[in-house]
Amino acid sequence: MDGVQAAGEIHDRLDIPVVYITAYPDNKTLQPAKATEPYGYILKPFEERELHITIEMALYKHTMEKRLKENEAKYRELVENANSIILRWDTNGKITFCNEFANTFFGYGADDLLGKNVVGTITPERDSAGHDPTQMIRKITLDPEQYSAHENENLRKNGERVWVAWTNKAIRDKEGRIVEIVSVGNDVTATKRAEERLRQSEKQLRQSQKMEAIGRLAGGVAHDFNNLLMTISGYTELVLKRLDQQDPTRKYVKQIQKAGERAVSLTRQLLAFSRGQLLKTELDLNIMVNEIETMLQRLISEDIDFVVLIEPELKHIKANAGQIEQIMLNLAVNAADAMPNGGRFTIKTQNVINGEKDLMVIPGAPPGEFVCLSFEDTGSGMDKKTVDRIFDPFFTTKKKGTGLGLAIVYGIIKQHNGYITADSRPGKGSTFRIYLPAFSSKSADRTKVVIVSQKLRGNGEQILLVEDKKGVREVSTTVLRENGYGNKG
Ligand SMILES: Nc1ncnc2c1ncn2[C@@H]1O[C@H](COP(=O)(O)OP(=O)(O)OP(=O)(O)O)[C@@H](O)[C@H]1O
Ligand SMILES: [Mg+2]
Repeated sequence: MDGVQAAGEIHDRLDIPVVYITAYPDNKTLQPAKATEPYGYILKPFEERELHITIEMALYKHTMEKRLKENEAKYRELVENANSIILRWDTNGKITFCNEFANTFFGYGADDLLGKNVVGTITPERDSAGHDPTQMIRKITLDPEQYSAHENENLRKNGERVWVAWTNKAIRDKEGRIVEIVSVGNDVTATKRAEERLRQSEKQLRQSQKMEAIGRLAGGVAHDFNNLLMTISGYTELVLKRLDQQDPTRKYVKQIQKAGERAVSLTRQLLAFSRGQLLKTELDLNIMVNEIETMLQRLISEDIDFVVLIEPELKHIKANAGQIEQIMLNLAVNAADAMPNGGRFTIKTQNVINGEKDLMVIPGAPPGEFVCLSFEDTGSGMDKKTVDRIFDPFFTTKKKGTGLGLAIVYGIIKQHNGYITADSRPGKGSTFRIYLPAFSSKSADRTKVVIVSQKLRGNGEQILLVEDKKGVREVSTTVLRENGYGNKG
């Protein structure tokens, strides 16, 4: 072993600073000596003072280096063992450093993230609200102070979306220019989800309070209203009977009759959901969809394709048939209104199992079996602001709309312990999904209500009519008389 080799061993194994004293200033000796990282190189002959100073300097430098290394190790340990995501990225969004926690958290291997752009790797190219994060990344690099603390949606390698609360700090060069950003992040997904659930249930609470209010209002008013309508319809009927077939006023009276009929149907709907306690039987939604298909076909115009997709083994539900029919009608009419120039309207039935937490497919619903009835149209669609209000009573964007169609749908579904969701985007159509709890019982006892209408005519028989409302009493009396009965009011 020569002197250079010996110096190398001393440096590597013992970490003792080496100073060469040599008579050879040639390159052949200098090069290998350099590789052993000496702290000095003294050429013979030398002065004692020179040796002394070189050794002092070597010891000082060595101590400083050691301290620096220790500090570096401490920081490295801190960063690597931190229970937070620590990243550095340059002004183009390229990742230049990440700690182990970041790799594990985002699901990447040791150096997989280095050199990748933040966007598309750890932030989705579009977040759930539809925003492109490129803008945000640019803003952070321009004005990091403003984004020193902020939360955003991030992306794991397996595609899972997570929420991270970040603290960002700029690293500047000597001229003060920002060269990199250090970001420290913590997972706040659970808190975010809990907040979202809370918001949802608050929204649902508000909605059901509104429904309750309108239910009470409807219950109070609808009965009196029905009586008034009966008077209007009754007398209209009588006028029509008396008018000659050719009479020009007939068409006006017919209009009154039509408006009356619509008002009656509306009041009936209002009453139905204010009463709440309607007869519920075991129903097969497939059969109901089948039965109502022809009626809906007539309702929607010919240039709308009507598609029915049925799940063959559909679970039954327990519901009021009339109300379910009402739901289908209201949703079909809305879909038809949204497609004035034609399109496609799809009704679909499906079995759905709602799980807990991450397996929850029906927002806010308890785990269990549900039947899903969905209505999809390719119509005008709605923006988010509209979607937020559609279930509000009296909310309408139509000239002749009452804004009660969907409020009634909502009310009915709540009475059946069901859920409804609406997905829509302007120009992209709308999908309404109704989830009703599945009902398990072997025998289906579907009851069918058959209304038999017969023409009745009296022959002077006396009838005792008891009715406290004068208007209703009078019109009833007249109608009975007109139909050949006698009367004692
Ligand atoms: N399928 C749909 N496509 C687009 N917009 C819809 C759809 N369904 C409902 N809407 C919007 O929701 C609003 C409320 O609907 P809702 O059925 O409650 O009342 P309406 O249809 O306006 O009135 P009415 O039901 O008395 O005719 C509508 O005015 C419309 O703006
Ligand atoms: Mg409607």
